Amino acid sequence: MDKQQAPKTARLILGDKQIDLPVMVGTENELAIDIRKLRSETGAITFDPGMVNTGSCESRITFLDGEKGILRYAGYPIEQLAEKSSFTEVAWLLLKGELPMADELASFEREISRHTMVHEDFRRFFSVFPKAGHPMAICAAAIGALSTFYGDVRFDSSEEERWKAAVRLLAKMPTIASYSYKHHLGQPFMYPRNELDYTANVLHMMFATPCEPFAVDPVIVKALDLLLILHADHEQNCSTSTVRTVASAQSNLFASVSAGISALWGPLHGGANQKVIEMLISIREGKTTAKKFMELAKSKDSGVRLMGFGHRVYKNYDPRARILKQACHDVLARTGANPLLEIAMELEGIALSDQYFVERKLYPNVDFYSGIIYQALGIPIDMFTVFFALGRLPGWIAQWMEFHDDPNAKILRPRQIYMGSNQRDYLPRQKRVSAAKKPALAATR
Ligand code: ACO
Repeated sequence: MDKQQAPKTARLILGDKQIDLPVMVGTENELAIDIRKLRSETGAITFDPGMVNTGSCESRITFLDGEKGILRYAGYPIEQLAEKSSFTEVAWLLLKGELPMADELASFEREISRHTMVHEDFRRFFSVFPKAGHPMAICAAAIGALSTFYGDVRFDSSEEERWKAAVRLLAKMPTIASYSYKHHLGQPFMYPRNELDYTANVLHMMFATPCEPFAVDPVIVKALDLLLILHADHEQNCSTSTVRTVASAQSNLFASVSAGISALWGPLHGGANQKVIEMLISIREGKTTAKKFMELAKSKDSGVRLMGFGHRVYKNYDPRARILKQACHDVLARTGANPLLEIAMELEGIALSDQYFVERKLYPNVDFYSGIIYQALGIPIDMFTVFFALGRLPGWIAQWMEFHDDPNAKILRPRQIYMGSNQRDYLPRQKRVSAAKKPALAATR
């Protein structure tokens, strides 16, 4: 339905009350019912766990059609960006809304390269973490800690200062990511080399040592750059919504992005890329078979899910997964075969012809094939989600900036439907019921 044909209002009847709620239409003709006056006019709220039906903002950054499997950044199809663009160019696109002119891109890249080092005192920060500590925890802490080094960065800082904070974040995240890995290995931290481009520099800081340079292979750099492009934004996903939520309290950019990293870490979100490889390895090691694993994934009681499959919005093949599946073949042709790709394709084949997955419209998502490429590039498993975070950084920053400039922005503060006890009087100890016997929320419905 296009804008002209769309109804102007949606009528809601609640008991003997009737109200007309305005209908909004997005540029891709997506319909939304504006319920901002609902509670003040009817006393009722909406109930939408997981915000499955709730638009939390208007945004110009990314368009996603989950039914058709379409993803575009600022109108540009992901397939074209994946083929023709670079990560820094995509970062500019997300931040500014337009592809950069040649001089704009050159000066943006130069600006980033001038901020890649971290304060010498900040390098010591990493040494307090246990060597086996997960790098996502270290990165979340480190990005939050940037606020202590740049205490002047506030929500209401000037536009120029906010831009500088964005550049610092983009520039220092690769350094921070690689230090979290070097700390784990017990190797010296490598300084960035500003003659390298953004993606080559990350690989240098991860894999070079003071006694041996890392020969940066352009094929590997291109593959990693592709991964970063594909992860750069994905509208109001869990971590991005987290970034916006923290921003809504007028917290600064570093604090908001640090929270986004924590959200991304979870296995139902970005942490799925690590879980996918662990799943594939357990099949390769003979701990289970693809068929048995799929039976478990279908059983509600097992608590097992086919990691890298299913998506809140995509009810079709995730276009990023399609690009990555092809990239897997290209990268492995260079780096050597990996039996995990065969296992992944076997699982996909079973899922796409299995009624359980077909009925629920469960397809591979971005995490299904990305881990195989990371592994081929030599990136260790618990760094996979860190690379996802590195890729998602421009999206988080762009969404933070957009929230900052949105005249409709309000502190995010959902309502709830209270299902607990009604008012009751304080009980003496001998008359109390142990909290261990408290019924689960579901049992009270
Ligand atoms: N394996 C098995 N069953 C699944 C899977 C899966 N991967 N994903 C969803 N289902 C089932 C659910 O059990 C549910 O079944 P039911 O209707 O019989 O109860 C149905 O499909 C719908 O799933 P929901 O969990 O309600 O869907 P939701 O939109 O809330 O969750 C999510 C989406 C979290 C991504 C889910 O598909 C999942 O857990 N996938 C595995 C983890 C994963 O790959 N996460 C990465 C997502 S992409 C990203 O965040 C970068």
